[in-house]
Amino acid sequence: MGPVPDGARMIAIGGGKGGVGKTFLAANVAVCIARAGYEVVVVDGDLEGANLHTCLGIPPPPRSLADFVANREEDLVKLLVETREPNLRLIAATHANLASAQPGHFQRVRLVSRLRQLPVDLVLIDLGAGTHPAVMDYFLVSDDGVIVFSPEPTSIENAYAFLRAAFYRRMRLGMMTHSVRALITQAMDQHNERGIRTPADLLREIETLDPGEGVRFVSTVRSFRPRLLVNEVRTAEEIKLGFSVRSVCRSYFGLDAEYLGYVNHDPGVRRSVVARRPLVDVQPDCDASVYLQRVAHKLIQGLGAPGVGPELSG
Ligand SMILES: Nc1ncnc2c1ncn2[C@@H]1O[C@H](COP(=O)(O)OP(=O)(O)OP(=O)(O)O)[C@@H](O)[C@H]1O
Ligand SMILES: [Mg+2]
Repeated sequence: MGPVPDGARMIAIGGGKGGVGKTFLAANVAVCIARAGYEVVVVDGDLEGANLHTCLGIPPPPRSLADFVANREEDLVKLLVETREPNLRLIAATHANLASAQPGHFQRVRLVSRLRQLPVDLVLIDLGAGTHPAVMDYFLVSDDGVIVFSPEPTSIENAYAFLRAAFYRRMRLGMMTHSVRALITQAMDQHNERGIRTPADLLREIETLDPGEGVRFVSTVRSFRPRLLVNEVRTAEEIKLGFSVRSVCRSYFGLDAEYLGYVNHDPGVRRSVVARRPLVDVQPDCDASVYLQRVAHKLIQGLGAPGVGPELSG
């Protein structure tokens, strides 16, 4: 199937905390979507900790995003690596330059527009940990941004830090005037002298300064719809965490986040990583694989029918 008219759809998988399962989820969800008949490219956006290739059972590819960042290769098609799945290809992040792994701002803009031009249906980006501007940019320019967290206080804390960073960056990008953008930059410092402590405080200040920008702020908030995924749940109580975080998104940020789903903790995940095979490949019928299929199914809603291949089950 060729590219959709507006270019390939982009989905970013982030979440702030390291080790919550972003790469595991990206690899497995990508396999599920490819098996549903869509042409998928999965991109390892973690230039400082590349391991998506390993989750897909591919030896470290000699060519990667690092070649694009170092201006050695402009054509992303030349960086595509075949996987075991006929519809799934990878852009790895191996062999990054340790001295300057992250692309600069203009390189990021160029990279994103090239990714959208790839002749595929979907580009899925596995982000690194943290809230580095590079990570946030990929998250914000994507059509869908998935925030992954596990049911641990530290992970939830980092998910909020990630949300907060994404929220303020997104709002700042959406504003037209320099003065309002400067106000948002001030609000990003939690101890700012103007006393702006919450998004509601910020909106009040913006409305006083420039009512038109206030309207724009509200509509930008409405259009921002992060999707939440809880990984490694062990109890029914932990499944509810997605709803709690969604409520906080609404009450604190005014955001209408979506609870995309959850994946249970399964010892088979570790075994699948050790075996360098996606879980949905080695244990397609286990609970975790069923939940992964569900997540994949939700993510492809709105993509239109695939050109070939069977429908996703579940
Ligand atoms: N649902 C799960 N059940 C059991 N173990 C899991 C599950 N999800 C992830 N893991 C374990 O957590 C490990 C870390 O996962 P992964 O590398 O995907 O995290 P990450 O968020 O990409 O980390 P980083 O931020 O460092 O890139 C995996 O190797 C796997 O063993
Ligand atoms: Mg990772």
